[in-house]
Amino acid sequence: MERTEMQKPQSLSDIIQDLHRIFSDDKVDVDEVQALLQSYQSNPQEWWKYAKFDQCRYTRNLVDEGNGKFNLMILCWGEGHGSSIHDHSDSHCFLKILQGQLKETIFNMPDEEVKELSKKKETILQDNQCAYMSDSIGVHRVENVSHTEKAVSLHLYIPPFDSCHTFDERSGHKQKVTVNFTSKYGKIVHPENAVSQENN
Ligand SMILES: [Fe+2]
Repeated sequence: MERTEMQKPQSLSDIIQDLHRIFSDDKVDVDEVQALLQSYQSNPQEWWKYAKFDQCRYTRNLVDEGNGKFNLMILCWGEGHGSSIHDHSDSHCFLKILQGQLKETIFNMPDEEVKELSKKKETILQDNQCAYMSDSIGVHRVENVSHTEKAVSLHLYIPPFDSCHTFDERSGHKQKVTVNFTSKYGKIVHPENAVSQENN
């Protein structure tokens, strides 16, 4: 039976259905989206098919393309895996923990001058917690600092983007990088490129 707008989402597919409804127009209500993602109680049975781990680095796994309005993806972090410091190409970014913990370090958006990045905030994101990030807040690094536990996170980007910038913490040096997927809709993409992806 179809859910009404008032009924709480019970599953990942309910979340996806609600996101399609919310983004049927182009306005982004950050609080509404954050409340929706926060309300989802992670159920590994619903997302396990998207969770493709790699021994060497974290993976990005596409779940839904949102009719071109957003990208919903699951990121899988092995023990000690982390991202570089990056921006979000003027998109809205939501990050919800599905399993484990992630450390988020936010830096002030560097200006054109080349210098060391200044740290703004450090947070340990816990199970089911949802964080919001955008270029107006700054740039960030996300890490699974555990040496014993894997971590899985759900990410929503509005609008979708296929490149962003990374920053060197010491020098502030900025570099454009393309982002890619390890899997789409639960199927591994181009496994023959797996080695070159590790160098991105
Ligand atoms: Fe990010």
